[in-house]
Amino acid sequence: MKISVIGTGYVGLISAVGLAELGHKVWATCRTKEKIDSLNNGQPVIYEPGLEQLLKKNLKNKRLVFTMDFNAAINHSDFVFICVGTPPWPDGSADLTAVKNVARQIALAAKKNLIVIDKSTVPVGTGRIVQQILKSNGHRFAVVSCPEFLREGKAIEDFFHGDRIVVGAVNFLVAKKVMSIFKKLPAVKMTTDLETAELIKYAANAFLATKISFINEIANVCDKVGADVINVAKGMGLDKRINPYFLNAGLGFGGSCFPKDVKALKQIAGGHGYRFKLLKAVIEVNNKQRQLFIEKIKTILKHPAGKNIAVLGLAFKDNTDDIRESAALDIVTALVKAGAKVKVYDPQAMRLAAKVLPKSVIFCQTIDQAMTSAQAVVIATEWPEFKNIYWPKAKKIMAGKLIFDGKNLLNRESLTRLGFKYHGIGR
Ligand code: UGA
Repeated sequence: MKISVIGTGYVGLISAVGLAELGHKVWATCRTKEKIDSLNNGQPVIYEPGLEQLLKKNLKNKRLVFTMDFNAAINHSDFVFICVGTPPWPDGSADLTAVKNVARQIALAAKKNLIVIDKSTVPVGTGRIVQQILKSNGHRFAVVSCPEFLREGKAIEDFFHGDRIVVGAVNFLVAKKVMSIFKKLPAVKMTTDLETAELIKYAANAFLATKISFINEIANVCDKVGADVINVAKGMGLDKRINPYFLNAGLGFGGSCFPKDVKALKQIAGGHGYRFKLLKAVIEVNNKQRQLFIEKIKTILKHPAGKNIAVLGLAFKDNTDDIRESAALDIVTALVKAGAKVKVYDPQAMRLAAKVLPKSVIFCQTIDQAMTSAQAVVIATEWPEFKNIYWPKAKKIMAGKLIFDGKNLLNRESLTRLGFKYHGIGR
């Protein structure tokens, strides 16, 4: 099938590469020349495991092209995927400027009937707005919602082995046509109306975020009563109705999706006269979680001023270089503000973090470098490689014995046996 993808951000790029790998002819476009050049040279602009390989493969077999020529991309295809950003306005509602602009551009450019598929996370009702905008063109357009469920760091795996594909449309036959794009994928396929598909995306993200805030509240109770949240979560997760996923207590959720989408859903409900009380609490708990951790570090360190602290992890989660809404950044900034000398290490996110962190932060090339002479080590991202730190050696190079594990990643018992003072979340 002939497909164009508008936007080469996270969702657009993975979709373009994934659709090409499924055998479709894909033209992807965006307005940044450096990005287009880099992608055409096989260099992904984001870090995502497996992406570079698939990008190179599909450029080589000519199923995938990146172009600045919006009109050519549109008129090459029968299906147009809108994959542009919907950042939050200050009140939390989604900014639809980019989506509407793309719809206007499609209306100006299209020389034939098209199916326009929205993959950007948009408030309920946006599909109808896009439909209205497209009306100004004489051709016929069908607007479809096909929300994205990819996780950063696991996006390629999720594209090919996701749980479900949801397609929402006014016309069932159009929905079926769009679903046929994904026929090679094993995911459960669900067709629905436009509004339902748009809401499924927000409801899923808000529910997962709620699960995380819930387990973080349980962790805070564990701290008070002397229970271990890891085992509480394990015991809960054994119940199939609960399941063990997204029950890791830590520093709260970050990234470009959960914080934004929870606020946006609260706004969507509010805009329709409904107060979604639960989501207000989910946001409050999430904001509080990293502050509690920072307070814990400061209290235990007594006077952080002048102390050497190693912070391991800067990305909002493992396997990504994305630092948006990352708790790690707030932690580093708070420690610097308290006068600590902070050394940091992250396998992927240091380039981006260097642009926003205070100038005094020292960026290290290895975990060992960061930990040398540190009075305390802080784990701020769940990178698997932090699990494999050889602590007997770390003990020799560190100046102190404090470990603050914001992601409950490490083995508390063995660290305690080695003489470290371990502080996790709810343990
Ligand atoms: C999330 C959803 O999981 C995807 O399904 C969705 O497509 C995506 O948002 C999106 O809307 O685009 P993502 O933000 O990439 O994906 O990352 P997650 O793996 O969901 O993690 C989000 C945050 O929650 C991270 O900060 C992570 O550390 C935290 N988290 C996750 C926890 O604190 N505990 C957990 O048990 C799981």
